[in-house]
Amino acid sequence: MGCEKIHIKSFGCQMNKLDSSLVANALAEAGFSLTGEVADADAVLINTCSVREHAEQRVFSHLGHLKHIKESRPDLVVGVIGCMAQRLGAELLEHPAVDIVAGPARIPQIPQLVTDALAKHNKSLAVTERIRAKPDEAEIAALDDFEAAYDSDENNIPSQALVRVMRGCNNFCTYCVVPYVRGPEVSRPPAAIIEQIKKLASRGIKQITLLGQTVNSYSWTGGDRTYTLADLLKMASDISGIEWIRFITSHPGRFDESILDAMADLPKVCPYLHIPAQSGSDRTLKAMNRRYTAGEYLAFLDRARTIVPDIAIAGDFIVGFPGETDEDFAATVDLVRKAQYKNIFVFKYSPRPGTGAEDKLADDVPLGIKKKRNIELLEVQNEISAAYNERYPGQTLKVLVEGTSKKPHLNRAEFDDHPQLIGRTATDYIVVFNGPETLAGSFANVKLTKASPLTLFGQLA
Ligand code: SAH
Ligand code: SF4
Ligand code: F3S
Repeated sequence: MGCEKIHIKSFGCQMNKLDSSLVANALAEAGFSLTGEVADADAVLINTCSVREHAEQRVFSHLGHLKHIKESRPDLVVGVIGCMAQRLGAELLEHPAVDIVAGPARIPQIPQLVTDALAKHNKSLAVTERIRAKPDEAEIAALDDFEAAYDSDENNIPSQALVRVMRGCNNFCTYCVVPYVRGPEVSRPPAAIIEQIKKLASRGIKQITLLGQTVNSYSWTGGDRTYTLADLLKMASDISGIEWIRFITSHPGRFDESILDAMADLPKVCPYLHIPAQSGSDRTLKAMNRRYTAGEYLAFLDRARTIVPDIAIAGDFIVGFPGETDEDFAATVDLVRKAQYKNIFVFKYSPRPGTGAEDKLADDVPLGIKKKRNIELLEVQNEISAAYNERYPGQTLKVLVEGTSKKPHLNRAEFDDHPQLIGRTATDYIVVFNGPETLAGSFANVKLTKASPLTLFGQLA
């Protein structure tokens, strides 16, 4: 085996990004080198997402492009990994461009699959056959070992790392494909998680983000006790070197207040909560199987703000869910006005094969209306953010610097000798300011001068 080059492209969420990073490290250890260019690559891996049809369409158009490249470079190996690989399995392997299809539970096998495909030009399929069956112990152990061996900072933002605390989901929101591609909920042992965070801290990691599809339902029982997310936050707080701790994503059902207490009591736990509501209409929430009402959700936000007064809250919404009327949507607008989010993500409902909603409910809201509602909801939130963010100019906030900004946000006249940097506050605000590139990965204090709905601007203090 030589130093063949691999190109990896990620389309999915943070879970997928973490998977890509583990795979990249495992491939590097197996003797491969990574390349940013498809043109230089001997193998291309695409890590995919199935959450909306659009995400899958982008992958298919990418595969069309790779098929074209393979006409002149038939030796190029193409692997599709991640959620779409699990969802489509053998069907995807029939695509003329595709050599390897490997689901999220099979990532430990990828270096071997790539090695084989490069040597033998065979097609291979590695997916979980019965995705909702109880995962077998050997598979869980292999994933845990893989996670522990190949976690690293190198493919992420300097000084930051993602740490998976659980896999899968048991919530079965009726629109959502995740339970069918990521399988049942499994929490990782706290000892392994803490060990991993210590290792990351010793390599200079300052911020960790604990990842789970419903991270607040983390639960692991061993000996005579059960560990919760609040316990993990406490244990992670005790690790020296780690300065900021985040966790995503939370589900509003059964949110234990001990997590809010940990946020209030532990200075390292960032006062930020990403907790999707999805809708403000009780009828729609019921049809979505979200198991809370709009009133309960808002009461929870009040409680969160009482316990953690400076908390910033972000939400997700789906517009155009089957049967969503103007009144239902008005209820969502009303919830957004009351919730006073820091920011929201809005998605147009996309029927996913095999989910409850796709099976039983007609996708009856026309695309034009979905688009209109999407724009309107974002406009409502923009007004709220604009008004809320007026408090920031004049304040000095601590940010963790991520690196240089990809697009120039400031006026030319405001540039000084330094490039534009991007950082984030503990409350997850993006802050743009000028400073030396060497600040990437460090904390800095920024005096804010200007605010827009999504971004704050300032100068190094
Ligand atoms: N586990 C997380 C996120 C799941 S996917 C959670 O439960 O919050 C991220 C977001 O995608 C969801 O919050 C939802 O708003 C959106 N989403 C999921 N399925 C969708 C679908 N079929 N159509 C449109 N948006 C969807
Ligand atoms: Fe999907 Fe619901 Fe699970 Fe989130 S909680 S991953 S939306 S099924
Ligand atoms: Fe993430 Fe998409 Fe899979 S949101 S878990 S990559 S379906």
